[in-house]
Amino acid sequence: MNVLIFENEDEISTASGSLIASQVIEKPNAVLGLATGSTALIPYKTMIRLYKEKAVSFAGVTSFNLDEYCNLDVQNENSYHSFMHANLFSHIDIRPENTHFLNGNAEDINKECKAYDDAILAAGGIDIQLLGIGSDGHIAFNEPCDHFPEGSHIVTLDARTIHDNARFFNSIEEVPTQALTMGIGSILRARKIVLIATGANKAQAVQQMVEGDITPMCPASVLRLHPNVTVMLDRAAAGALK
Ligand code: GLP
Repeated sequence: MNVLIFENEDEISTASGSLIASQVIEKPNAVLGLATGSTALIPYKTMIRLYKEKAVSFAGVTSFNLDEYCNLDVQNENSYHSFMHANLFSHIDIRPENTHFLNGNAEDINKECKAYDDAILAAGGIDIQLLGIGSDGHIAFNEPCDHFPEGSHIVTLDARTIHDNARFFNSIEEVPTQALTMGIGSILRARKIVLIATGANKAQAVQQMVEGDITPMCPASVLRLHPNVTVMLDRAAAGALK
């Protein structure tokens, strides 16, 4: 795990956005694993800038998003479909048909999850996976638990995650309590991973991820087993590292 500490968000934006864009320049039909949440806006800002400057085209790219809420219309502004459209896809030339999401409203959840994992494999696997981290150490929506789930699956969100994500909704009661998420296995199969964390509220989770035991009680700690992970932090998120 390569841990890099930056002075500010702009520096992280340039470094992370360029890393993803350079993957696309190297392989125009790259498969990107994409994330949502405020952290994801950091690389997206640079990816959009590089696209507008004509330094990179996403026209040949395929994307798979990490997760999606259950029981939330995809048109809802808080769905991860809407987030991706508003914050990245509508600003670049990625083809809508090449963007993939888990369907949190699928009737047959098992079938949906299996089809998603199969689609990632059929696309040749993920070349670069973007991750944020929850304040409880979750990645995608893999919450602390007693094992590392392999494939895509349904989860019940932890109270802390619901609390953290309530800032996007009108009230905490509106936050969905369940989601579909890629599994830890799906994430670890990505050839490269870049995880970004900023702010003091991530410091404890970052410390556990980088220096604590490798345990499903801190799902992000499993990334230490992957050969190509870059962690990009600001000073606040790195604040609890020994
Ligand atoms: C959500 C997402 C995660 C994300 C996390 C942190 O729970 N499912 O993929 O990493 O939030 O979000 P933020 O970047 O807004 O702190």
